[in-house]
Amino acid sequence: MTLRSVTYKRLIKPVLFHFSPDKAHAFTIRTLSIAGRIPGFARTTRRVSVRRHPELEFEWSGMHFSSPVGLGAGLDKNGQIVNMMRSLGFGFTEVGSVTAEAFKGNARPWFYRLPQTQSLVVHVGLANHGIRRIIQRLEALPRTVQKKYPTILSVARTNSQHTAETKQGIADYVHSVAIAQQSAAVQMIEINISCPNAFGGETFTTPQLLDQLLIAIDEVSVTKPLLIKMPADLTWPQTKALLTVASTHAVTGITFANLTKNREVIDFKEPLPKEVQGGLSGVPTRELSTNLLHKTAQAYGDRFVLIGLGGVFSAKDAYDKITRGAQFVELVTSLIIEGPQVVEEINAGLVDLLHRDGFTHISEAIGSKVTKTSR
Ligand SMILES: Cc1cc2nc3c(=O)[nH]c(=O)nc-3n(C[C@H](O)[C@H](O)[C@H](O)COP(=O)(O)O)c2cc1C
Repeated sequence: MTLRSVTYKRLIKPVLFHFSPDKAHAFTIRTLSIAGRIPGFARTTRRVSVRRHPELEFEWSGMHFSSPVGLGAGLDKNGQIVNMMRSLGFGFTEVGSVTAEAFKGNARPWFYRLPQTQSLVVHVGLANHGIRRIIQRLEALPRTVQKKYPTILSVARTNSQHTAETKQGIADYVHSVAIAQQSAAVQMIEINISCPNAFGGETFTTPQLLDQLLIAIDEVSVTKPLLIKMPADLTWPQTKALLTVASTHAVTGITFANLTKNREVIDFKEPLPKEVQGGLSGVPTRELSTNLLHKTAQAYGDRFVLIGLGGVFSAKDAYDKITRGAQFVELVTSLIIEGPQVVEEINAGLVDLLHRDGFTHISEAIGSKVTKTSR
């Protein structure tokens, strides 16, 4: 264990975990948001805590990435802690999911901790400040952050009865995508079709409805990389049917995967009361997402850029997703459970794994364990 890991686990985590997860989350976002606005604070933190790893640096689609490891959607829903996340060693960040209209979310509690299972139960229901306000906040970030730290904006359908109908739901997505396309502070756009906690369910996870949604988004002529965030609980044939649709549209990449709802198959290390609602993150999603990602890399080759997330707690977990086809890896839950040092530990560990396997750069490891199959 490193000194920073000990400091987090022995000093900071016991204090945070003393409070309810909802209070700890709100407190952390508020504190980091204030810290990030102190001139020079994020820059100095980055300088003292983050090492350069040339083996992990790369250029893609006109952007520079200092690492393939980024923050996944859900922690920074409102774009309040972007520069602080950069100072932890992430190579990029995901903000959101944001929606066209602001929404206050489901009734509390939103979170339930399962520390032994290394998971969180999440029942937020797409709470966020609304896309316009969030984009204004991103546009106010220092120029260097906007230029050197790519941001993915995760866009979901506004969680309300008015957008539950397919036509209104599509219009709502299109409205947000058009706004994101116009902002210089957003480098990539991710369509979250898979939020398990939204009003009206996962309506865009059937091939027919996904096709309708993507036909409408094609009209916006998005020039930024466009990604789709997939559900974790579909079978491979169901996933493949969605990918086949996506492959006929202007979709650059696929993110695997969202929370899992399938509680029957999870190996719980502590009891989870039945009344706790929501999808599960962390370790219970790890194999589900890596398997779907690997099968996609096998079947679709280079057609999609792949982002792997779900249960990444260590460099080995990240490397597993990379060698199975992920160009990017993201994490959320390990940051909350293990602490901020996890990012640099994963970066450094990835470099060790590359050298162990005789690679000199991360690009050589991507898909190195993928054997191509036919669709
Ligand atoms: C607190 C929390 C909030 C989340 N909110 C969102 C969200 O708004 N949009 C989304 O696409 N995924 C959301 N997710 C899912 C994560 O992006 C990710 O798909 C999932 O948690 C698996 O990754 P992890 O094991 O690293 O957490 C959320 C996850 C957590 C833990």
